[in-house]
Amino acid sequence: MKKPAENCTFVIFGATGNLAKTKLIIALYHLYVDKLLPKGIHIVGLGRSIEDKDAWIASLMEELKARARGGLNASLFKSFCDKLHYFKTYMKTPEDYQNLKQYLEQKTFSKNIAFYFSLPPSLYAPVTGSLGDVGLLKEDTGWRRVVVEKPFGSDLESSRDLQRYFERYMDESQIYRIDHYLGKETVQNVQVFRFANLLLEPLWNRNYIDHVQISHSETIGIGSRSGYYDRTGALRDMIQSHLLQLLSLVAMEPPVSMQAEDLRNEKVKLLRSISPIPKGAVSSHAFRAQYTNGLVNDKEVKSYLEEEGIPEESACETYAALKLHVNNWRWRGVPFYLRTGKRMAEKRSMVAICFRQTPKQFFRTSQLQQFEPNWLLIGIQPDETLRMELTVKKPGLDMKTKVISMDACFSDEMSKDAYEGLLLDVMEGDHTLFLRSDEVEESWKIVDPVLRSWGSQRDYIQTYPAGSWGPDESLRLFEKESQKWRCSLEPDKK
Ligand SMILES: NC(=O)c1ccc[n+]([C@@H]2O[C@H](COP(=O)([O-])OP(=O)(O)OC[C@H]3O[C@@H](n4cnc5c(N)ncnc54)[C@H](OP(=O)(O)O)[C@@H]3O)[C@@H](O)[C@H]2O)c1
Repeated sequence: MKKPAENCTFVIFGATGNLAKTKLIIALYHLYVDKLLPKGIHIVGLGRSIEDKDAWIASLMEELKARARGGLNASLFKSFCDKLHYFKTYMKTPEDYQNLKQYLEQKTFSKNIAFYFSLPPSLYAPVTGSLGDVGLLKEDTGWRRVVVEKPFGSDLESSRDLQRYFERYMDESQIYRIDHYLGKETVQNVQVFRFANLLLEPLWNRNYIDHVQISHSETIGIGSRSGYYDRTGALRDMIQSHLLQLLSLVAMEPPVSMQAEDLRNEKVKLLRSISPIPKGAVSSHAFRAQYTNGLVNDKEVKSYLEEEGIPEESACETYAALKLHVNNWRWRGVPFYLRTGKRMAEKRSMVAICFRQTPKQFFRTSQLQQFEPNWLLIGIQPDETLRMELTVKKPGLDMKTKVISMDACFSDEMSKDAYEGLLLDVMEGDHTLFLRSDEVEESWKIVDPVLRSWGSQRDYIQTYPAGSWGPDESLRLFEKESQKWRCSLEPDKK
């Protein structure tokens, strides 16, 4: 059972930034409209570039109007604004933090404080240190929680350094490492689907599953985030975090309970079971590429190297694919293929589970030319769906077959954004959907050999035209000829 959220002060560092504008404030507004926020909550935005509360609210309006469910309700928004406060700070000197402390000590504010770091990752450590130095992370008078956005470090070593730094100022129970993928309805449904439906369990293993694909493709490029993206690349940006999280949910053993620690223990165990990629075998386990110019949704788009702010010799990958093996009783021998890319043909996130062929192909001599294996597809975005593909007989006198899909669609126009549930979890002290330090460390361990290898080869990278599904050369990761990338939820498109 969840604890109801106690009153709290919700402090957003980086309140003038993109994430605060496009996600956090809107999620808080929706929670307010749904009467899910604690009554005495105060939301404090911190920023450098905006002068005061009025200017801050004005800067939020465009996104709020565009994204508020059912339109922005004027009277509810007015009372929501009473909960909003803005504190201009440069967050540089110890005095800045003393002033912040004094500001937060005003009587009307709750002593329970959540600090949301919607900041460049390079500031996570200095801001934590400064908050700690003025005593704002001490839990003497109320709880103190810190929400950290991804990325947590940029490789294994830096994530360990950051963790060690955090430990000087906070207990693990105070840290909420957010991965908004885990807040998505369909991602949570993976657990329900697996552990509330007995019929799947006998099939969920190496005896019946041929391979698993987990993919996330985007049609957008890097937008205005060139600085961040060129330092980061697709492997760090998507695979180390979101896709490995999905893999752990798909492949983990049933936990002792659905309590946060039991669940996280199983995820860590699974990540630890993944065979390390040997230094000398990176090219048979990993593939990277970068988009050139091309057509996306019938619009000409430029190449990665022509994007503003990208160095002309950049070998940063905008496409990354990985083959992993989970070395345990359930999964030994089943490859897991992970793939992500920008400027791809379609925007889609999905898990595609391909079952083995039947032991005997009874219908080979019939008019059925190709016998298809069963697929189970979990669509995460844009279609939130669960789909099971089966081969059936086409009506008629001939023995012809076709593949049909049984569909459970969850899409609902009014469905909640992942951040709504996650922000509420922070206020309620529920860690279930947040990453524990060992989980982050294990994920970095998996991708680290690839990062090192790619980091040492900066003079050449394969390319793919924008608007495509990536280079065919990535097919070399597959272990059998019958295996290839599954791009669509539709059986006839694949
Ligand atoms: N945007 C997303 O959808 C998204 C998704 C997943 C994760 N994230 C993560 O969320 C974090 C924030 O992302 P964002 O897209 O909102 O970035 P952003 O638009 O660049 O905003 C960054 C914020 O940090 C503040 N800031 C920057 N440098 C600062 C400094 N030296 N001292 C004090 N404040 C500083 C800025 O304040 P001023 O403008 O007032 O100077 C701004 O409010 C990042 O860690 C990112 O990786 C973002």
